[in-house]
Amino acid sequence: MSILYDEQSRIITINTANTTYQMIIGPHRFIQHNYYGKRIGEEDLSYLHLHYDRACSGNPDEVFPSRRISLDVIPQEYPSAGVGDFRIHPMSVHNGDGSYGADFRYVKHEVIKGKYELGGLPSSYDAAGGAETLVVTMDDKITGLTLELLYGVFEEEDVITRAVRFVNKGSYEEVLTRALSMSLDIPYGKWDLVHFHGKHALERQTERERIGHSAVTVGSTRGTSSHQENPFIIIADRRTDEDHGDCYGMMLVYSGSFKAQVEADQFDSVRAIMGIHDEQFAWHLAPGESFTTPEVIMTYSPDGLTDLSHKYHHFIRNNICRGKYQFARRPVLINNWEATYFDFNDEKILAIADEAAELGIEMLVLDDGWFGQRNSDNAGLGDWYVNEDKIKGGLTSLVQKVNEKGLKFGIWIEPEMINEDSALYREHPDWVFAMPGRKPTRGRNQLVLDMGRSEVIEYLYSRIEALLAGNNIEYVKWDMNRSLSDVHSNALPASRQGEALHRYMLGVYELMGRINRNFPNVLLEGCSGGGARFDAGILCYSPQIWCSDDTDPIHRLNIQYGTSFGYPVSTMGSHVSASPNHQTGRTTPMFTRAVVAMSGTFGYELDPAKLSDEEKSQIRDQIADFKRYYDLIQSGDHYRLTEIGDDYFEAWEFAASDASEALLNVVVTDIQPNPTLMNIRLKGLDPDAVYEMTEKKYANENVPPEFSTDSVRKRELRGDALMNAGYTLEWAFGDYPALQIHLRRL
Ligand code: DGJ
Repeated sequence: MSILYDEQSRIITINTANTTYQMIIGPHRFIQHNYYGKRIGEEDLSYLHLHYDRACSGNPDEVFPSRRISLDVIPQEYPSAGVGDFRIHPMSVHNGDGSYGADFRYVKHEVIKGKYELGGLPSSYDAAGGAETLVVTMDDKITGLTLELLYGVFEEEDVITRAVRFVNKGSYEEVLTRALSMSLDIPYGKWDLVHFHGKHALERQTERERIGHSAVTVGSTRGTSSHQENPFIIIADRRTDEDHGDCYGMMLVYSGSFKAQVEADQFDSVRAIMGIHDEQFAWHLAPGESFTTPEVIMTYSPDGLTDLSHKYHHFIRNNICRGKYQFARRPVLINNWEATYFDFNDEKILAIADEAAELGIEMLVLDDGWFGQRNSDNAGLGDWYVNEDKIKGGLTSLVQKVNEKGLKFGIWIEPEMINEDSALYREHPDWVFAMPGRKPTRGRNQLVLDMGRSEVIEYLYSRIEALLAGNNIEYVKWDMNRSLSDVHSNALPASRQGEALHRYMLGVYELMGRINRNFPNVLLEGCSGGGARFDAGILCYSPQIWCSDDTDPIHRLNIQYGTSFGYPVSTMGSHVSASPNHQTGRTTPMFTRAVVAMSGTFGYELDPAKLSDEEKSQIRDQIADFKRYYDLIQSGDHYRLTEIGDDYFEAWEFAASDASEALLNVVVTDIQPNPTLMNIRLKGLDPDAVYEMTEKKYANENVPPEFSTDSVRKRELRGDALMNAGYTLEWAFGDYPALQIHLRRL
């Protein structure tokens, strides 16, 4: 039993393997949050919170004449609104009687075996069968608005998930104007916020800042989880580093606009809230109706950021990702986007397939441009019919020909979007988001389909079904290339426009879910102008997401580093592209590009006909290495060995959980003359074992002889030496050299 209730003290304690979470049902049915942190034995932790008269923080009626209880001060499970807690708060409501606010008090709680589901929303699942659910019901006596606080408890995984269901049990309509999924009060300590910001082609850059007394919002109002911020934050003790210290993670399982906010209050207690963004959000609840928020995955580690990341990696691989390709080896693919952009026909595609087959690549992905009048990114979206001027003989024949060459076939779609220059738009101009009387803003010259409308979902499903049922397509890249603006649904009344954004997301999830269910053998890869929807919501439908449109390996180091705090390598779409790179013009060695792309799903995105024989032979080698190391990379423990940008090189490692092998990866990002030597301490090895080390590196022909080492190189070393004294690498030379060292326990 991981959820315990003590009748006497009215304490609910959730224990996972290494964490304890506790709340108490206090006098007048207030629920006080007692603690979340390292696991402790049975103890009533209410003693932590002393109640004083805090001038200027008001007191609820029931405690009169005492002034010691204030909702503005006590740590809470899910704060009420408008009744005296002036800190950031997770919900707001406009009541049918015209008032704003709700005063939630405990009604009951229930422990259920298994993990709750959220009907229509993606959420984690109970893979091993040990999860439990705690439902704490609270209500507002006057309006009848009821809260069900849902806690999914994954004991072994050290994860507690949270969501909220609002039920209107009153007699008049209520309008939720904010409905976030969780609130967490951390009353003591000094904390930092770690978050992952970015832009198109440079997503998930790591930023760490002190949590102060002004509320800081990490969020997106773009209708996607966004390039600009990721719905994942870490709250870390100021002293926390990779290997030591307290840290909490909060990850939203949602792909639309979101808000995470943190603030230290007047007494330095930190509150964090997270959920759907409240901008343009207003959800009407008629009597009897309910609204369910998305889920937040919370975990805590007393042992630093690496341990926190490992918990997320494990949980996402086992309890978020699902389907055939959750664990099955995914094919090494070649994507034609950077090879041809829109300028292709069946002959060019087949030429790429020929070369790819020769190289040992396993799947060809036909990217944007195969349908309708899609000869540039100004037309065609919505017309999901093959363009036979480009693909002579049609898609079925092309797929067959590619299959005959020994390659699987994958295809690109962007279902949520429409160009005005398309047959679909000419037929259904009212299917787009547009505000009455206004011309909507275009993004990439495209408009957004109202995914909240069932007829839109039906149309899209019928086209995708025809595509997948009629052709041997084994992979779909689902793209989405603009932010949502001009959000107004022609299918909703004026009063309900505040529901359009969330209904859009529900429609996307319904369509993705239907494709998953009806085409279980198809591997879906999420994408949104690169990585604008890299989130745990999308990962419930597609086990991998294209990380970024920036394929420059040196930038990718940053992007993949930031992504790795919350998401495992198995989810990161990453390809070797041409050099000079198309986004930056930077020239990098083929080997370096492969070392970086291998720390992802691995594939190619270039024209193989333009490669030299030497490069082709390197590719054959890389694919063999990737297959050899597949399990180690995809399900081993990932260690960030350097802090990004802190040195002239970056290093990271994968170690098997039984420490039987490891793979060290190093890329030199800023080559130095007369350098400080690179000494790297490995992690996750068996201290008492000896490891055999096999090194591969980018060998620059022009390395001057004095750069080769004169010391005796040891290739068999003990784990404790490698982890404590480290390994010193040879002096590097040239543009962006890289190396990979495989370690095998002897
Ligand atoms: C954006 C994606 O991220 C790219 O990989 C490519 O598929 C283009 N869209 C195609 O329009």
